[in-house]
Amino acid sequence: MSAKKSKPAEKKTAKSAAKPAPAQPAEKTKKTYGVLRGLHDILPREEKYWKKYYRAAQGLAEYFQFGRIETPVLEEAGLFVRSIGRGTDIVEKEMYLFEDRDGTKVALRPEGTAAVVRAYLSNGLWNQAQPVKVWYWEPMFRHERPQAGRYRQHYQLGFETLGVKDPAVDAELMLMAYNLYAAVGLPVEMHVNSLGAPEERERYAAELVSHYRSKRSYLCEHCRARLIKNPLRLLDCKEEQCQPVKESAPQLIDWLGEDSKGYFMKVLEFLDELSIPYVLSPYLVRGLDYYTHTVFEIYPAASGAAESAGAGAPAAGETAGAKPAAPGSQSALGGGGRYDLLIEQLGGKPTPAAGVAIGLERAISELKHYVEQNPSLAPTDDKYQIYFAQLGDDAKRQGLRIIDQLRSSGIKPAFNFFKNSLKNQLETANGLKVSYVVILGQKEVQDKTVIIRDMESGVQEIVDQKKLEAALKRKLGLS
Ligand code: HAM
Repeated sequence: MSAKKSKPAEKKTAKSAAKPAPAQPAEKTKKTYGVLRGLHDILPREEKYWKKYYRAAQGLAEYFQFGRIETPVLEEAGLFVRSIGRGTDIVEKEMYLFEDRDGTKVALRPEGTAAVVRAYLSNGLWNQAQPVKVWYWEPMFRHERPQAGRYRQHYQLGFETLGVKDPAVDAELMLMAYNLYAAVGLPVEMHVNSLGAPEERERYAAELVSHYRSKRSYLCEHCRARLIKNPLRLLDCKEEQCQPVKESAPQLIDWLGEDSKGYFMKVLEFLDELSIPYVLSPYLVRGLDYYTHTVFEIYPAASGAAESAGAGAPAAGETAGAKPAAPGSQSALGGGGRYDLLIEQLGGKPTPAAGVAIGLERAISELKHYVEQNPSLAPTDDKYQIYFAQLGDDAKRQGLRIIDQLRSSGIKPAFNFFKNSLKNQLETANGLKVSYVVILGQKEVQDKTVIIRDMESGVQEIVDQKKLEAALKRKLGLS
């Protein structure tokens, strides 16, 4: 075994340590590029957060029997206009729209549900046993005004159940969203409402218009337009001046017929049974036009909300205007509901359906915020079982083969082929808190052996390379 001396570490001055990482120097004549406004890179240091959610999502999908679906990023623009609705912000202001080279009007997918319904129809999934349950994890594109938690490209995890209308379906979707957050340790609550059937909603909309019209002079410019174009969207308005008008508005729940009310009550009974904390939100209408009956959004749990809802939930209206006391954000971490008319609207037979989508950037940002107060919930990088140290070119060559053999036997080593000093590599191994280091120096390369060093006792043992896997498995308690 031979160890090369490592270069002395560069001295850091206090000044250089405080500086942010410098941009790569560029030739003066060359233009450099940054990320476009409203878009963002996801870097390796974020990976542990993404993995935590992805693993939870995959586990839930498997357990609740949802099959993975992936639809193209591009669809015909008309698909989204017809599904999401002309008067919505997404269609009016936010869609990335362009003409393809053959003149087709296309859009970058702003949400997943319409695309899933298109796939359900164009692939004949309606012909299979129902319900069809699918999940996706995909980027969505909305040209929104960039701000915290609002990106022009964001990821959504979605679960959709097509072909069945049953309160158990609505409850299962809410349970999955709730469980996703429970799996990462984030307490959340559901804000729920029912939009009823279209004719009930129309009668309600007429009532809403007459209420808002009587207060027209207090309304923002957008709400004055909404009065004519899409009255339900009046309830989405976030402008300060419109809030008092909303707070005194009639509530949709009072306009529902017996069947719709009965359906909604059954959904709530499921939530009670499942002990999912929820808040009745009479003004929750969602920003997309395709919903009927149950709608819901997921928020970080507000203190006390869980007790004021759930078992023995208050009557509709008692929580009117309830705002989540979210530590990190005031924005929904996810949302969904029933869309019983959408499949028919897009050319299929009348087929009920429901779904939920989680905004992953928001979910991650909320988790990071929560971890600041609860460090034990911080996701960790995947653990290495051993460190593999090598010394010299010959050791690198043999070392890569040995590492690959360990991989296929299920042992996960950390290694860095670009560090050549043993001291340096042992320090890294120490930092990673591995129990054993496998050392391959020039002598070991010739003898076809390795050294296994016990990091706690410092005891070293020479082992034949052929017996390395068995020796490690024994030491790690894997055999
Ligand atoms: P949505 O409420 O428009 O619903 O979006 C779902 C979630 O995506 C939101 O709750 C939010 O967390 C996240 N989100 C939306 N826009 C942005 C953005 N610009 N930046 C970051 N995150 C964002 C839907 O899209 C429906 N397709 C949900 C659904 C599925 N309904 C039935 N099935």
